[in-house]
Amino acid sequence: MDKWEGKTAIVTGASAGIGDAIVRDLVKYGINVVALARRMDRLESLRDQLKDEPGKVIPIKCDVSDKASIDAAFEEIDKQVGTLQILVNNAGIALTHGMFGDDDDKTDEIISSTINTNFLGLVRVSRKAYKLMKKSEDYGIIINIGSIAGHSASFDYIINVYPGTKFAVRAVTESMRQELNKLKDTKIRVCEISPGGVHTEIGGDSLNSPEMKEMIESGLVPILKGSDISQTVLFMLMTPYEVNITEMIVKPVGERI
Ligand SMILES: NC(=O)c1ccc[n+]([C@@H]2O[C@H](COP(=O)([O-])OP(=O)(O)OC[C@H]3O[C@@H](n4cnc5c(N)ncnc54)[C@H](OP(=O)(O)O)[C@@H]3O)[C@@H](O)[C@H]2O)c1
Repeated sequence: MDKWEGKTAIVTGASAGIGDAIVRDLVKYGINVVALARRMDRLESLRDQLKDEPGKVIPIKCDVSDKASIDAAFEEIDKQVGTLQILVNNAGIALTHGMFGDDDDKTDEIISSTINTNFLGLVRVSRKAYKLMKKSEDYGIIINIGSIAGHSASFDYIINVYPGTKFAVRAVTESMRQELNKLKDTKIRVCEISPGGVHTEIGGDSLNSPEMKEMIESGLVPILKGSDISQTVLFMLMTPYEVNITEMIVKPVGERI
């Protein structure tokens, strides 16, 4: 990890769950992390908690589902740090809401925000980040957080277009890799991590009820921690610049899906 010391990373969706865990791990290695999310209070609290780590946290508000918000955030990033070597596209939402209900406006809003956050946001942030990486003339890596839902859309519960967006994340990761190859941009790698179930806020109240917590703690429900995925991010970063593990599936032992 020494090679990344003093470099800059952007982590989207840094205010909770997997993103929060990734920020905590990166700063330990002296990487300065631009933490993006909508909830600034959480990002500022994370910066304060990690103030004694070798790397610093730079909180910047960004709604990745909104192009204007991404543009504004990157203007700020350009001003505050100027260059970039690591991007972790992690921000995402999953809402248990069907596609065929009668509440047309609400359903349409949920479908759009899921696509805009999980897919379009990831593509737009990557385009902006690429410019900063090129400017730095250094080695760069883009790590896209997909999901096991990007490998199979069969779930016990309804999550509308979520699996569709995660299949798209895997496809666009490969398209990015192909384009970087064609551009002979061999200093920038792009890869994807597909987590299985992780105990975070994304599952809403059902995953965080006292009964569920007890089942998770007693091992009855196999589930990963955010830190298990941040360790996978570190593993990707530890590989030599010339090595690209293009995709990695990470499941808790015993997961059925
Ligand atoms: N947990 C799982 O079981 C699981 C499994 C596979 C894949 N994943 C993927 O892992 C990633 C992280 O999820 P998580 O489990 O850590 O969920 P989480 O605890 O709910 O955290 C989601 C993060 O995304 C951010 N976010 C959501 N919408 C955003 C937007 N429009 N703009 C900017 N940031 C936004 C949230 O920040 P703000 O609300 O402050 O903006 C939050 O920091 C997602 O891409 C998810 O699909 C999770």
